[in-house]
Amino acid sequence: MSLFKKVQSLFGSAPDVSSPAPQKPVASSDAETPVPGKKVEPQGGGLEGVRHIVAVGSGKGGVGKSTITLNLALALAAQGLKVGVLDADVYGPSQQHLTNAPRPELSGEDRLIPPEYEGVKIISVAMFSNVNQAQVLRGPMATQLLRQFLTQVNWGDLDYLLIDLPPGTGDIQLSLAQMAPLSGAVLITTPQEMSIIDVRKAVSMFKTLNVPMLGVIENMSYFICDSCDKKHYIFRKGGGARLAAELGLPLLAEIPLDPRVVETSDEGKAVMVSMPSSDAAREFTKAAKTISDGLALQQKSGDGGLGYFLLEWK
Ligand SMILES: Nc1ncnc2c1ncn2[C@@H]1O[C@H](COP(=O)(O)OP(=O)(O)OP(=O)(O)O)[C@@H](O)[C@H]1O
Ligand SMILES: [Mg+2]
Ligand SMILES: [Zn+2]
Repeated sequence: MSLFKKVQSLFGSAPDVSSPAPQKPVASSDAETPVPGKKVEPQGGGLEGVRHIVAVGSGKGGVGKSTITLNLALALAAQGLKVGVLDADVYGPSQQHLTNAPRPELSGEDRLIPPEYEGVKIISVAMFSNVNQAQVLRGPMATQLLRQFLTQVNWGDLDYLLIDLPPGTGDIQLSLAQMAPLSGAVLITTPQEMSIIDVRKAVSMFKTLNVPMLGVIENMSYFICDSCDKKHYIFRKGGGARLAAELGLPLLAEIPLDPRVVETSDEGKAVMVSMPSSDAAREFTKAAKTISDGLALQQKSGDGGLGYFLLEWK
């Protein structure tokens, strides 16, 4: 089967081409299940111009990974950086809902042009209404979709490609770390111990996969109510800070629990765009600055610490 046919069969009717695709040899790795430690080379493809791939993860579901990924991307873009978001949660994709981004266009016979939200390029399986969810639920299909998102999307020149990971520490995370050279991972937690226990699982996964951790973002840190303007620490105070200290990582941000985050997210508008002067937006800006400064520094120092993970395929 040609590469194009594969895209077509995966993405249903999304690619709209009038001429038949020429038969192209398919790289043998295309059909393989990833082997630990063996990286999949990009097939002349989408990642060539990407400087840093950063995964956003947590052990736990519903702690705000997707919301934070998008807003971090927007905060990095606000620094003048070129940014993309890859929604790796093929089972429960969020980035299309959060942005109302349209479907990608097809470029040539087998490349997808990602739609943009406020200048950030986004790809999510939810953009392909014809992808058969039952098929995706089988592991190999999910892995193949991810590979296509990495190699068959025209990401172009990007300073950052942020990856919105699904919850947990399963196959998707593993496949991704094998397929994409990650510059690092950002850990998301909420303040309470229940969440932190699960983040520790993600920490040991990233350690096993040799993915450097860039810092901790604590979400839903506190609530400011209308009536008294005080910070209410609903989920207890300081869990994120303790975790960061324990891991020797920076605490990148403490994002308040703000009902407007839910409202605007459900309208397809990110906090960074709809409430740029909110406390949440200020924290996203701070986190983006620390991440970009940190990675720039590590790259400059050239101590080889990150070398293996940096994209040097050009
Ligand atoms: N700081 C916040 N204040 C208020 N609501 C928030 C905040 N962060 C996230 N939410 C809300 O919490 C819900 C879960 O957020 P989100 O989908 O980003 O989490 P997730 O970790 O990606 O979830 P999943 O594990 O299912 O992928 C959403 O309704 C989102 O709007
Ligand atoms: Mg999510
Ligand atoms: Zn109050």
